[in-house]
Amino acid sequence: MGFWVYLASFALFLAVFLHLPLHHKAEAASECDLFTGRWVVDKSYPLYNTAACPFIEREFSCQKNGRPDLDYTEYRWMPLHCDLVRFNGQDFLQRFQGKSIMFVGDSLSRNQWQSLTCMLVYDVPNAKYNLTREGDLSIFAFTDYGVKVMLDRNVYLVDIVRERIGRVLKLDSIVGGKLWKGIDMLIFNTWHWWNRRGPSQPWDYIQIGTQITKDMDRLLAFETALTTWAGWVDSNIDPTKTKIFFQGISPSHYNGSLWNEPSAKSCVGQKQPVFGSTYPGGLPPAVAVLKSVLSKITKPVTLLDITTLSLLRKDGHPSIYGLGGPTTMDCSHWCLAGVPDTWNEILYNLIL
Ligand SMILES: *[C@@H]1O[C@H](CO)[C@@H](O)[C@H](O)[C@H]1NC(C)=O
Ligand SMILES: *[C@@H]1O[C@H](CO)[C@@H](O)[C@H](O)[C@H]1NC(C)=O
Repeated sequence: MGFWVYLASFALFLAVFLHLPLHHKAEAASECDLFTGRWVVDKSYPLYNTAACPFIEREFSCQKNGRPDLDYTEYRWMPLHCDLVRFNGQDFLQRFQGKSIMFVGDSLSRNQWQSLTCMLVYDVPNAKYNLTREGDLSIFAFTDYGVKVMLDRNVYLVDIVRERIGRVLKLDSIVGGKLWKGIDMLIFNTWHWWNRRGPSQPWDYIQIGTQITKDMDRLLAFETALTTWAGWVDSNIDPTKTKIFFQGISPSHYNGSLWNEPSAKSCVGQKQPVFGSTYPGGLPPAVAVLKSVLSKITKPVTLLDITTLSLLRKDGHPSIYGLGGPTTMDCSHWCLAGVPDTWNEILYNLIL
């Protein structure tokens, strides 16, 4: 009898032991690769009703701009080896009580910033907020909590200076960083402006040290600027006070050959993600440059490695339901509610 009891408890022990990792998915989030996974339909998404978020700017307000399909709002990101903890705005505001968060970068930062403020306002509907803007700095303050969620529009991170010869993009100067000091959590991003040419290019010359040039390899310019930014992080950040993230490269969808649909010349009419975990077109080359620079930083910086999961979302862009309306094609930004909500849900998992 004793033997059988012993055997049964040993079997139970084994079963519990072997299954333990499966039941501790949430705990594993910090060790689990949150960026490899797939999109699954989940009718409990989106994380907010866009009507409850009146401050979404027109360029991301796809539904208001007439986008008829809503399936793209009902996907949940499922990492391969663990589950994401669902975003909890109340918990988020409590964790950041008295603190400040700042997104720094181009309109993709604005996309993520607006997503986060919508998620918070929706989850904590009674929280008072105050949205103000001073120049390039937008401040969304949750006044009861003393939490500030800010956006510093700074498309290259390094400086553009108006001089006698014209507007000079200074790849080794980062005076703009003065706005980032003393912030508790910083989420940086730059990429989309590095390939701008013609009238929408906001500089006339590039300068490195004393060398001034009319133009150069743009990927190399990007790398040089990132290296300047990395130096800023290493000499200005106290990791016991400030958490630093880099919002990875947000991809565009203008070439259907990259998702095995060569007849598609843009993202218009796309109603479904690429299913599975891999994107046929591979990664944009900026990703490798970014990872290489990040690997040389001494201070801890976490890459919000959203490229692949966003590549799979050819259905997530405004297309003709964006800022310019039917005459323009926006396959770079993301509709809200939508893909950037997942970036923020992952960000939340990384700070738990
Ligand atoms: C909103 O913020 C601005 C700028 O910080 C401030 O002057 C104003 O008093 C605030 N309003 C409320 C209602 O808190
Ligand atoms: C689209 O991608 C394919 C495959 O990489 C490439 O051969 C083609 O040149 C691209 N088309 C455009 C318009 O960039």
